Amino acid sequence: MLLWREKIPADWLPKILNNLPAVLVDHAHLERKAATTALTLEKYPDLFGRVQELNAIAMEELQHFDLVLNLLKRRGIPFGQPFPSPWISGMMREVRKGIRLQAIDHLIVCSLVEGRSCEKFQILAQELTSHDPELAQFYGSLVESEGNHYATYILMARDINDAETDRRLDYFLDLDATLICQPNPLPMLH
Ligand SMILES: [Fe+2]
Ligand SMILES: [Fe+2]
Repeated sequence: MLLWREKIPADWLPKILNNLPAVLVDHAHLERKAATTALTLEKYPDLFGRVQELNAIAMEELQHFDLVLNLLKRRGIPFGQPFPSPWISGMMREVRKGIRLQAIDHLIVCSLVEGRSCEKFQILAQELTSHDPELAQFYGSLVESEGNHYATYILMARDINDAETDRRLDYFLDLDATLICQPNPLPMLH
């Protein structure tokens, strides 16, 4: 896994643990957006040869979405409105326009979202063990898949242009370090 340049802020975990129903709704939207994003990446000519791999990711994310919806149903939590994530929109704002560069930037941002999800799911799998074992087990079951998505997206960017991917990864890791420290009182994973 990546060497992040900033730790997840200390107030993130208590905020999540104290608002699990809202976090699960946010998580459902996160998986829904991950599925649509995998399909959106298929528009880039540089990724035409990877369409079936992207379809496979989209289907996996759709399954995750469905699993979260089942959890919501079992717990009597209504599926509600999504909150916009300032961290994700801050990263997406820096994706350059212009097909080839845009594909690399977009893949890097997707990769970092998957990487941070993987890291956070790992923390939740551990922290929820005694408090909510069902949820702990659920988060643990997603870690490998999100880690694979992180790796797949970064390798796809490297296949387009390795040096440019290094350069932009450096930029986006700095941006992540800045954005992750900005206070966000909303009960969101990102
Ligand atoms: Fe997922
Ligand atoms: Fe994912």
